Amino acid sequence: MRKTTDTLWKTMCLILGICFIWCLSLPYFMMSNADQDIISMATINRLGRDGNVGEGTGSPEEKMKRIIKIVNDLLNIAESSDNPHGPPALKDYREELQSVQIHMEAEKVKGQLKDEMIKEMHLDKIQLQLYVAHMEELLKLQLEKEEKKIQQLKSDKKFEEDTNCPLPPMDNHPECMGKLKWLSQMWKSQPCYVGYGVNGSVCSFLIYLSEVEKWCPVLSCRVPLSKKAEAGSDYAVVREHLTDLYPSLEKRSQFRWIEQRIRSMERVWVEAGRSLSAKYNLKERKAKQILVHPGVVTAESNARIAEAAFNGGPLGELVQWSDLLSTLHILGHHVYLTASLPDLRHYFGVDTGGCPPLHSNPDLIYTDIIGLRQIKSVLKGPWFKYRCIIRVLDTFGTEPDFNHISWANKHKLASPFGGLNMIPLQFYTMFPHTPDNTFLGFVVQNQLMSEQSELFKSNKRQNQALVYGKRAEFWEGKTAYLDVIHKYLEIHGTVNRNALPNYVKNHGIVKGTDVQALLRQSKVFVGLSFPYEGPAPLEALANGCAFLNPKLNPPQSSLNTKFFKGKPNIREIISQHPYAEAIGEPYVWTVDMKNLTEVERALNAILNQTIEPYLPYEFSCEGMLQRVNVLIEKQDLCSSAVSWPPLSALQVVKAQMSCKTACQKAGLICEPAFFPHLNNANTLAKNNVDCQTSEFSASGLVFPAYNSTQHCWFQSDPLLFSCVRSDESLTRVCPCRDFIKDQIALCKDCI
Ligand SMILES: *[C@@H]1O[C@H](CO)[C@@H](O)[C@H](O)[C@H]1NC(C)=O
Ligand SMILES: *[C@@H]1O[C@H](CO)[C@@H](O)[C@H](O)[C@H]1NC(C)=O
Ligand SMILES: *[C@@H]1O[C@H](CO)[C@@H](O)[C@H](O)[C@H]1NC(C)=O
Ligand SMILES: *[C@@H]1O[C@H](CO)[C@@H](O)[C@H](O)[C@H]1NC(C)=O
Repeated sequence: MRKTTDTLWKTMCLILGICFIWCLSLPYFMMSNADQDIISMATINRLGRDGNVGEGTGSPEEKMKRIIKIVNDLLNIAESSDNPHGPPALKDYREELQSVQIHMEAEKVKGQLKDEMIKEMHLDKIQLQLYVAHMEELLKLQLEKEEKKIQQLKSDKKFEEDTNCPLPPMDNHPECMGKLKWLSQMWKSQPCYVGYGVNGSVCSFLIYLSEVEKWCPVLSCRVPLSKKAEAGSDYAVVREHLTDLYPSLEKRSQFRWIEQRIRSMERVWVEAGRSLSAKYNLKERKAKQILVHPGVVTAESNARIAEAAFNGGPLGELVQWSDLLSTLHILGHHVYLTASLPDLRHYFGVDTGGCPPLHSNPDLIYTDIIGLRQIKSVLKGPWFKYRCIIRVLDTFGTEPDFNHISWANKHKLASPFGGLNMIPLQFYTMFPHTPDNTFLGFVVQNQLMSEQSELFKSNKRQNQALVYGKRAEFWEGKTAYLDVIHKYLEIHGTVNRNALPNYVKNHGIVKGTDVQALLRQSKVFVGLSFPYEGPAPLEALANGCAFLNPKLNPPQSSLNTKFFKGKPNIREIISQHPYAEAIGEPYVWTVDMKNLTEVERALNAILNQTIEPYLPYEFSCEGMLQRVNVLIEKQDLCSSAVSWPPLSALQVVKAQMSCKTACQKAGLICEPAFFPHLNNANTLAKNNVDCQTSEFSASGLVFPAYNSTQHCWFQSDPLLFSCVRSDESLTRVCPCRDFIKDQIALCKDCI
């Protein structure tokens, strides 16, 4: 390296020297065709000038002396040269001097020309400077290259030492070396390469070039891995750990909360996977390629949910994404996680230059409403090809009339989150809201139940209540209610600010496991009527608390409540937590917060009772694994023929109310997948509906239905089938089904 540099310097000096000489001589050559006088005068002038520069000030005598010397020299040359016109007459010095003076005159006359020459010399100088700069640059580049080479040599060495992945023989891969060089320089040009795990190391280049593109031989240490990655033909094996999931979460800060939750629950998930495999045959399931794109955590969504998660922000969505990721992973599928628009482009291979798509044929896509918009914006028209494999996580649900874009526009139901024209079953909800959607759910954390069951005994608990409300605003105007509770119990809170009644012991915003510890010490979890339908009340029940569930009067919906505004449904809720309300006493006490007598009665009853922790199966890890597994295997929204749930589960109920209510009253649940089956006169006849006349229509949301003179209406637009609407003048023919207790998403024949 030192040697190279020395040589370089030498070369440069040489070139500089040549350059300088060239520069000086340039005017001479330029002038070689011009008048001899001018040349000599130019030379004189230049010498004089140089002299001036060198000596500071040159006296006129000295100048003259030099001129005389030159003239002498010129005379000598002239005398010694052969002149065809005979030797010039010898002139004495005075004459010569005279001629010099004449020349000087000529110089003055041609002063303009001289100036130009000076200018030209300036230009030469600038050119020379540029040239030097250029040379310096070249030298620098050369040095950098040397350094890089050395670094690369070092990393080559490290890679051989550290990872046992020696450079393979490249006999049959003539392009490999070239591609390797190209990638080593260009891997940062497309985010896509990083997506494939390229990280600047030679090993990562080789892995990419052999496994993603086929230019290089596959590294011997990678053979088993690449075999595993050969997807599509392999079977899903229930996983015994979540380790493979963490790298994709660690990559991005938005997943910090999600990663924390998944890690804290890994052991429970693994146990649940084992337990489920012991009960059901989970073999012979194809491993699916699944894209998970939580739009809500992308920076592009501006939702800031991921940032707020540690500061008392809403957690429902993050809880659900965490649990879905764990579920898919435990079930043994190939999960790919994207969290930005560039990620999506990479996944689908849109605008990635030469970098190939990661996958263009996923079997399933889980996203949310924000994410669906992003997918559409990235794929444009061709997104349609993925339409029926998309599942949209939608906390509060989307009712069919809000989903149907032209119906919504016509009936002024347009909302920012509606009008997506999906099949309503493609919306996956947090709780079993409208049966028109699919219930996905989440998991209620309870991992310490078996180990510390003693702590759950309510008589070991302190006379302590924990209040449900992380923001001080939720506590405002509830003082009388809290005062009554405080008569019986010490009140604890986990609130972001301290503007609370002075008897409240505030712990500030604490992490999930600390909340669970507080719940295990408490007897009551106190609702403040907001937030609606969160995960926390179920967590309280699972940790052995009773839940005080405030009534909402009047019932709240998107029609009268700011929180629900814009949500694509008009479902009414009559308490803070309808799902808990349905669980009922002795676990859940639904009370009017303003009726202090009622509150006190509930507290007395709670303190006088002993309850065990309660966790509905559908909110356990195993319950979620079972449900999601069946949905992945059986729910097919791509073909129009109903294949699942099996028709054996169908029970037809006729009623002048919504099918949701009608089925519920019969101890069943409305199953929209069966609507097409009922949507004809033959099937109705088999169910004792004798249609005298009939018509197909898309003018209502309650079809199939009939009026008192047996005129039947059938639905002509399948997207308008709905469980939740009713029409007083019509009797609905409702497709109901049974369900497994505490697993409402599945019928008994469904698994
Ligand atoms: C880069 O990738 C290689 C191959 O995948 C891996 O062995 C190495 O640990 C990675 N290095 C870093 C710094 O992530
Ligand atoms: C308060 O609740 C009690 C018990 O449920 C009930 O009897 C009483 O009528 C309620 N009072 C009001 C004002 O609603
Ligand atoms: C409390 O329990 C005792 C004994 O189990 C019972 O006699 C009493 O009626 C209960 N009180 C209430 C308010 O439920
Ligand atoms: C039932 O509907 C048909 C068709 O619209 C109508 O002609 C008939 O009068 C209706 N019967 C009653 C009782 O409203």
